[in-house]
Amino acid sequence: MKEKFLIKEFVEMLHFDFKNISNDLKIELNESESSYSKVWKEHSSKFDNYIIKNIEEFENNLNIFLNETTKEDISSLLLKDKENLAELLNTFDSIRFKLINNDEYNSKLEAKCLEHLVKDGCAIYKSLFSEEELAELLKFTKVIEDVLNVDIKKAGYVNVQVNQKGQITNIWNSFQKVDDGQLRMQSKSVGFFPPGSEVIIKNKSVKSIFENWYVNSNCNFHRTNLEWISKSDTSHNGWHLDTVRDQLKIMVLLNDVDLDAAPIFCAKKSHLNNTEIKKETIHDLFVSGHRKRKEGVFYKKHAAALEHRHVGYLTDSDTDNLPANINNDPIEIKGVVFDKLVGTGKAGDCIFFESMGFHSGNRSTDKTRKTIVLVVDPVNTSFKNKFIDKFAGKVGV
Ligand SMILES: [Fe+2]
Repeated sequence: MKEKFLIKEFVEMLHFDFKNISNDLKIELNESESSYSKVWKEHSSKFDNYIIKNIEEFENNLNIFLNETTKEDISSLLLKDKENLAELLNTFDSIRFKLINNDEYNSKLEAKCLEHLVKDGCAIYKSLFSEEELAELLKFTKVIEDVLNVDIKKAGYVNVQVNQKGQITNIWNSFQKVDDGQLRMQSKSVGFFPPGSEVIIKNKSVKSIFENWYVNSNCNFHRTNLEWISKSDTSHNGWHLDTVRDQLKIMVLLNDVDLDAAPIFCAKKSHLNNTEIKKETIHDLFVSGHRKRKEGVFYKKHAAALEHRHVGYLTDSDTDNLPANINNDPIEIKGVVFDKLVGTGKAGDCIFFESMGFHSGNRSTDKTRKTIVLVVDPVNTSFKNKFIDKFAGKVGV
């Protein structure tokens, strides 16, 4: 109990607006830990009125308070007990969620989307993009489909060869061993964003949702993943969480997706760290990082069973990684029932989801799902991510 209290107080102190309170109350403040600590001890009761919203200010507080000794103490507390890590993450979240709930959005739909993200960790924003807006991107996907022909329906990675003039001279699928129907074209492997994706990147609502989610007005998109999920009896992805850090993703549907076209599933409210299975899984990932493979019972036909994946994945005894019927029913994960967001919709609809919550791919039972997923650079995003970065090397992440 005492440890959880200490962690909560430490995180709050990191968010305290020392500059403003010292100006308002005419307190003397110099850039030393003793001076900052004195202000905190005397005025922490005013915390709710003095929360910083600026990442540079947060970094300044981090530099003041997080010396090597404190870092050692905190990392041993976090490694020792999943409750301590949950307390840390939940304190960061509850402060950030207070800041997200403001009235300064461009549109009511953005506000609604963020409200759902805070509440459920996922949201569907219908008709965010029109057919005209997606035309260039769709034209590009058509080129890939025409060149790959029947190979478009086989699992693997799209590779491209580009000449010195920037023209594409060759496109091919480097097949993967297991045909789970997932073909990917990732910006990190081809070296560019697909033509037409700037419509998504420059969209005001998308920008506003990401900036508000992270409380950071300087979010830059750095990865895209264009995907085709075609008919297969194997699911391309079971239930898992991506990371310990905050990582919001936007998935834009590029064609109509129904239950037989491998819609993504998200477990609502699993972005919060208030269930045993979530606390366990995120703690395993925090301790071991992505290098350690998940052990346990895997026997169904899905990628984590066939290829082995990191400890953020759930076993087939924890949950149903390959549902016989793909439907809107809730999902049970180790005794906890979560309502699902099911990523069905029309071309141009968008799914925003926090990927540190549980989500799952699916298998297509009929049609091909065509989508693009974008993420911003996780290094310069939320205060929580800045904090976790300081522990890299000491812990698994
Ligand atoms: Fe994922």
